[in-house]
Amino acid sequence: ILKLFVALALGYLLGSLNTAVIVGKIYGKDIRSHGSKNAGLTNTLRVLGKSAAVFVLAGDILKGIIACYIGFFIGVYFYTGDAKDCVSLLVAGAGVVIGHNWPLYFGFKGGKGALTAVAVLFMVNWVMALLCLVFFVIIVALTRYVSLGTICATLLFAAISFIPVFGNTFYFYLFACLMAVMTIFRHRGNIIRLLSGKESKLIL
Ligand code: G3P
Repeated sequence: ILKLFVALALGYLLGSLNTAVIVGKIYGKDIRSHGSKNAGLTNTLRVLGKSAAVFVLAGDILKGIIACYIGFFIGVYFYTGDAKDCVSLLVAGAGVVIGHNWPLYFGFKGGKGALTAVAVLFMVNWVMALLCLVFFVIIVALTRYVSLGTICATLLFAAISFIPVFGNTFYFYLFACLMAVMTIFRHRGNIIRLLSGKESKLIL
C-alpha cells in the first residue's frame, strides 16, 4: 500500500507540471485566461499556435510515459509481469492525469488530461490506445470538434475495456472507469457547448 501511495504521489507531482501552463508562461500568456481557458494541447494550438503546441504535445506525452516507468519500477520489486497488470504503474498513470487536471503548482487549475491519458494507455495496452486514437482522428476529421473526438474516444475506451479479448484485469477496470469518468467530467463545459452549437472547431 505504501508503494502504491508513493506511485500515486510521484505521478501526481509529475503530472502537476502542466506543460500548457508552463509553455504559456514562456510565451507571456496564461493559457487559462484565453480561448477555451483550458490548459491543454488544443487550446495552446488555438491561442499560441503550432510551435507552442509541439512543446505541449511532447511534454504531456513524455510525462505520461515517465510516470508509467516510475510506477513500473516501484512495482517491479513486488511484481513481475505484464504492464497492464502492474498496479503501481496504473496508480502512477492515474496520478499523472490527476496532476495534469488539478496541478499542485498552478492553483489546481489545469487541463482535461486526455493527451497524457493516451500516453499512459499506450504504455499499458497499446492495442486499445491505437483503436481509441484512430477513432478520435476519424471523429475530429469528420466534425472538426476535438472535444467531441476526445469524448467519443473516451466512451469507446470505457466500453472496450471490459471486452475479454484485451485481457484486462480487475485493477485495469478500476483504472479505466476512473480515467473515463475524469475525462468526461472535465469535458462537461464542452458537452454543453456542443449541445448548444457554441463549441469552436479546430482550425489548422
Ligand atoms: O482534450 C481537450 C480537448 O478535448 C478540448 O479542448 O480547449 O477545446 O476545451 P478545448
